[in-house]
Amino acid sequence: MAEQARIIDGKAAAAALRAQIGQEIAAIKAATGLVPGLHVVLVGEDPASRVYVNSKEKLAAEIGMNSAVHRLPAETSEAELLAKVAALNADDSVDGILVQLPLPPQIDADRVIDAIDPAKDVDGFHLVNVGRLASGRATLIPCTPLGSMLLLKQLLPSLAGLEAVVIGRSAIVGKPMAQLLLQADCTVTIAHSRTKDLPGVVRRADLVVAAVGRPLFVKGDWIKPGATVIDVGINRLPDGRLVGDVDFAEAVAVAGAITPVPGGVGPMTIACLLRNTLTAFHARRGDGARA
Ligand code: GUN
Repeated sequence: MAEQARIIDGKAAAAALRAQIGQEIAAIKAATGLVPGLHVVLVGEDPASRVYVNSKEKLAAEIGMNSAVHRLPAETSEAELLAKVAALNADDSVDGILVQLPLPPQIDADRVIDAIDPAKDVDGFHLVNVGRLASGRATLIPCTPLGSMLLLKQLLPSLAGLEAVVIGRSAIVGKPMAQLLLQADCTVTIAHSRTKDLPGVVRRADLVVAAVGRPLFVKGDWIKPGATVIDVGINRLPDGRLVGDVDFAEAVAVAGAITPVPGGVGPMTIACLLRNTLTAFHARRGDGARA
């Protein structure tokens, strides 16, 4: 009988990362009187977005970061949102700007993301930051892939030469995750809904990153024994249970290590948003690579 996988504690890793960021903020404040500032813009009343935004605000406050949430009504026009973004771009006390997605249908999300100052784009979604990541000169890296990489690097001393399969090709997770794994010297495959023999492709992987947004999609018999599994999915089942994209109960019996849902990648995503705000603070002041 196979041993059970090691369960990767993202909650503990995120708490440690937040504590470290909190210490850095205290040191910056003592030395300069300045405090990094994160500004989140929320348009409308999407319930999941409200929960995320409240959590970001609470955790930023806990580590002593300045934070503000700008709540705009659901009927806000694109021009009004662009004016809000322009005001935040122009405000020197604002280090990080995050416009919560999804946006209401009258607003083109790409146009809004393009309008954010790349140096304040703590989501890492602006074309400049996408290009910087692709060319190996990243400053601001999308939070979920960054958090996943930090968990992997804590677990494994080197990722060099590992076969990594990323399931999902989104601009927010799949593609940047593949870039980061490539930069860590993995052999990377991006699989997606049109991939032939997906179970066979996943079975080759020493590292599996599941980012498809389909509950319990990746089965235990797709996992190579001993592989490391990072589950990015957060899906609500009809019975109210929160599950990932991986069938955890099956995979935990086969994998070498696996992230749970909840308590895996999710907490790292928000911790990395705070980290990116600190990175933007330093980069904007020239004490690090400029964003
Ligand atoms: N909505 C869900 N996840 C995210 C994210 O990472 N960034 C933004 N801006 N909106 C989101």
